[in-house]
Amino acid sequence: MKGIILSGGRGTRLYPLTVSLSKQILPIFDKPMIYYPLSVLMLANIREYLIISSPEHIDLYRGLFGDGKRLGLTIEYAIQPEPKGIAQAFTIGENFVQNQSCALILGDNLFYGQGVSEKLENAGALTEGGLVFAYYVKDPERYGVVEFDKQHKALSIEEKPKKPKSHFAVTGLYFYDHEVVSIAKSLKPSARSELEITDVNNAYLQKGKLNVEILGRGTAWLDTGTHESLLQAGNFVQTIEDRQGLKIGCVEEIAYRKNYITTEQLLEIANFSKENPYCQYLRGLVEEERITPSPLKAVEQAPDEEPLSLEAINEIVHEVRKQRR
Ligand code: G1P
Repeated sequence: MKGIILSGGRGTRLYPLTVSLSKQILPIFDKPMIYYPLSVLMLANIREYLIISSPEHIDLYRGLFGDGKRLGLTIEYAIQPEPKGIAQAFTIGENFVQNQSCALILGDNLFYGQGVSEKLENAGALTEGGLVFAYYVKDPERYGVVEFDKQHKALSIEEKPKKPKSHFAVTGLYFYDHEVVSIAKSLKPSARSELEITDVNNAYLQKGKLNVEILGRGTAWLDTGTHESLLQAGNFVQTIEDRQGLKIGCVEEIAYRKNYITTEQLLEIANFSKENPYCQYLRGLVEEERITPSPLKAVEQAPDEEPLSLEAINEIVHEVRKQRR
């Protein structure tokens, strides 16, 4: 499965933050916003990415991730000349998708909660039909809204309805089979001149091939579109990270735990700075791993990873301890 992150748009509601910066590169506490959606697709076991942004901002993302190798991923880039709808990601990304299944996530979406990783792993294995997630919100008229029957089967999806048929909004995370590009190419622009992702979803729904999974109330799906919600998202992440000492949306950690990168590669990233707490956290992952093997990391080593000698391990632990003092 391939993954597209759509990081376009003008971020007008965040003026003046977005005059010279792309919205999805703004900080959510300790990392750029786009780290969060990338971490979501990495948890779905996706390793090949296309990041789409505007002509003036695409280089910001290239500067941040390069070719993705640092994270054990491949990352390509494409331009969306004008914000003409979410479904346009699939016409822009046609050559990238290459007739495979593809996930799409909006570059400003933050998901957090118990059970989300399992849902993502399952979603990443999709080979037929489409899968989207619905989330209970107080203001459904701002979103694509799902109508369910009594058995929780989706009946319809309406884009920003004046009279919503439920409180369930479709989130900005979508998984589709190889047909998605041809469906996107067949769409006509809506009244707001956009290729609507809701029309893609309805095309799958009409064929009886759309699965709408509900994200329960124990999950957080956060908005980052206004000054207030941006700060709230940052505070949310800071509160949880501070309490647990574990990071949310830490793509380097996920790459390491999934064996996409070796211990040496992780330490190389962490070497960026000795004092920076983010780098210290990354170094701490190695220390924790060596002292108590973490159940979060698979036991197998990456195929190209040389096992570390006991001597080398002790040296790393010693070094980390010294730096923490
Ligand atoms: C878009 C989609 C909508 C979806 C929402 C999720 O809205 O059109 O269906 O519910 O993203 O964030 P927009 O960003 O265009 O307002």
